[in-house]
Amino acid sequence: MQVIKSISELRSMIKKWKKDALTVGLVPTMGYLHEGHKSLIERAVNENDRVVVSDFVNPTQFAPNEDFESYPRDIKADAALCEKVGADVLFNPEAEEMYDNALTTVSVAKITETLCGRTRPTHFAGVCTVVSKLFNIVTPDRAYFGQKDAQQLCVIRKMVKDLNFDIEIVGCPIVREADGLAKSSRNIYLDTREREAALCLSRALKMGRDMVENGEESAAAVIETVEREIQKEPLARIDYVEAVSFDNLRPLVKIQKPLLCAVAVYIGKTRLIDNFIIE
Ligand code: PAJ
Repeated sequence: MQVIKSISELRSMIKKWKKDALTVGLVPTMGYLHEGHKSLIERAVNENDRVVVSDFVNPTQFAPNEDFESYPRDIKADAALCEKVGADVLFNPEAEEMYDNALTTVSVAKITETLCGRTRPTHFAGVCTVVSKLFNIVTPDRAYFGQKDAQQLCVIRKMVKDLNFDIEIVGCPIVREADGLAKSSRNIYLDTREREAALCLSRALKMGRDMVENGEESAAAVIETVEREIQKEPLARIDYVEAVSFDNLRPLVKIQKPLLCAVAVYIGKTRLIDNFIIE
């Protein structure tokens, strides 16, 4: 396993792989890798001859008031995990290497304006720009994204279709802690009391999922149950609870598949997201 910081070095390695007709999988990450990332890397290792994990805290997807500076970083631990799981390259460029006075951005309209896009209006353009760049640098056969960030997955699929990237996007299930909390690099921001409070997200979503599985047809009823459960937790402040189509992210009145029921909730100062999808 090699840690590469230069785009040209990574490109020449990939050229050699392609010459040998090897397939390439890409797992884009911002590092501080946990079991959620690990599940994506494992899947990529199983399905491709070579795997690149990118590890880049992308400044353009953070707004000025967000946690870019404090976002956790541990490249040594990330490299050890990638080595253990069987990735071939950990791509860890500096911001200057990636952005070098760039003036070009990639943005997807409409589906980036709902859900997380409402409170983070510049976020998805940052994501789409960096992911496009990674796609052009690595030219993978497949790229792996978690359903934890369901809107991101939906936006990337749309971008790949609209811009004709010849890449298969593989969506992977949410990995959770034993008590239900979705794994996230941001969970380390939670103190003991907040960590406990954060369980209200998965608990409420489980109630919503049970309702749908038992035949509930009203999106409003599902949303209300999820909201009410979260509101019982004094440390929680809801950003949104929504039931939308997982295709186009339009709000549902009647529950239909593919369903994405997604929440964003502040626990103290930490904003957490979670969801369930029924396809
Ligand atoms: P990051 O938050 O590091 O996540 C990298 C990938 O891991 C994403 O596809 C995310 O959905 C997935 N992931 C995170 N937690 C997960 C969990 N508990 N279970 C399953 N998958 C999980 O998402 C980003 O980075 C960035 O926006 C990026 C796409 C790298 C662009 O900068």
